[in-house]
Amino acid sequence: MAVLEQTSSQKAIDLENQYGAHNYHPLPVVLSKGEGVYVWDVEGKKYYDFLSAYSAVNQGHCHPKIIDALTQQAKKLTLTSRAFYNDMLGTYEKFASEYFGFDKLLPMNTGAEAVETALKICRRWAYQVKGISENDAQIIVCKNNFHGRTTTIISFSNDPIARKNFGPYTQGFIKIEYNNLQALEDALIMNTNVAGFLVEPIQGEAGVYVPSEGYLKAAKELCEKYNVLFIADEVQTGIARTGKLLAVDYENVTPDILILGKALSGGVYPVSAVLANDTIMNVITPGSHGSTFGGNPIAAAVAIAALEVVKDEQLAQNADKLGAIFRRELSKYIETSSIATLVRGKGLLNAIVINDTEESDTAWNICLMLRDNGLLAKPTHGNIIRFAPPLVMNEEQLLDCVAIIIKTLKEFER
Ligand SMILES: Cc1ncc(COP(=O)(O)O)c(C=O)c1O
Repeated sequence: MAVLEQTSSQKAIDLENQYGAHNYHPLPVVLSKGEGVYVWDVEGKKYYDFLSAYSAVNQGHCHPKIIDALTQQAKKLTLTSRAFYNDMLGTYEKFASEYFGFDKLLPMNTGAEAVETALKICRRWAYQVKGISENDAQIIVCKNNFHGRTTTIISFSNDPIARKNFGPYTQGFIKIEYNNLQALEDALIMNTNVAGFLVEPIQGEAGVYVPSEGYLKAAKELCEKYNVLFIADEVQTGIARTGKLLAVDYENVTPDILILGKALSGGVYPVSAVLANDTIMNVITPGSHGSTFGGNPIAAAVAIAALEVVKDEQLAQNADKLGAIFRRELSKYIETSSIATLVRGKGLLNAIVINDTEESDTAWNICLMLRDNGLLAKPTHGNIIRFAPPLVMNEEQLLDCVAIIIKTLKEFER
């Protein structure tokens, strides 16, 4: 078909520029194939993927087991909407609820939708269970959060690029410092109408900020003390990325509400979910929430396969082991580097801080050279580069990647 004629990288970029809205600033590389830890551009050049679609492709590109589940289900039944039952959703809900240790799951599609869903559940719980008067509920969030792009979510962001000229904003949010327990307790004492505390166990988009050890556990205890729901957004940190199934597992914290997305499908299909126990989830009643595609049979089949892969291939253990090697090797280099000042992260969610101003384009230029050297990564917030490869990587590949990163950084030494 003429519309799908072969394209060159430049032609594909030109088409997006001309016909697509400019809501992203992609690294100039046009990918047409992926397998495991590798992707290929349209000219056939092979790269290590060191972003994994923002931690969605934890199971590796086009994992055969997940693709098989997708194609088998796609030939049978794709969408019923929730007007009718389908024979996959209940099986998936049981499987995933037991997998993560909750009573119930509410299926959605994107991460932002799942966050919105969690906020709605939390507000309803505040009115119907906690007894806050209607429209008075407050939810505590953290500065520099990233939870998605919807109008409500950007209302409690402090990123001017995400917010500017999108007002008026949704009310009902209190912003506190991340990783500051005193700020959390102060907010809980000062406001009697707090319904929940929404937090990323590691702030990914902000630059992979790992909170102090014990922060999440103590925050959960404060939430319990003040009868406030602890809502963990594990859209980016969840599903083995940080070296445990969930990042909250490091502190044995069970969230009241768990938000998942991205790797829930291995990056194969938009699948997100909110999990909670009955006392919380039962505030959702017919008509109060939904989505035409949420809980569709393909999503259910794909998510079951994607979660099985995580356990079968011990991806959390692999992320833990390789992440330690990655930080050890980069730390050794950074000791004598003038261009990189710090490596931080957990498991295979890591970042390096580049020795330049937030406004400089050094991190971007490093990513361009990484691309030329066969590795794809992207800056997050100015002078920080996030490194998040698929978790199916092996040690030899990781060391190869470390060599590429160090070789590239050396070109920028002053
Ligand atoms: C922590 C977190 N929450 C929510 C989202 C939004 O997910 P989506 O882009 O699928 O809407 C993201 C996306 O990067 C995220 O990192």
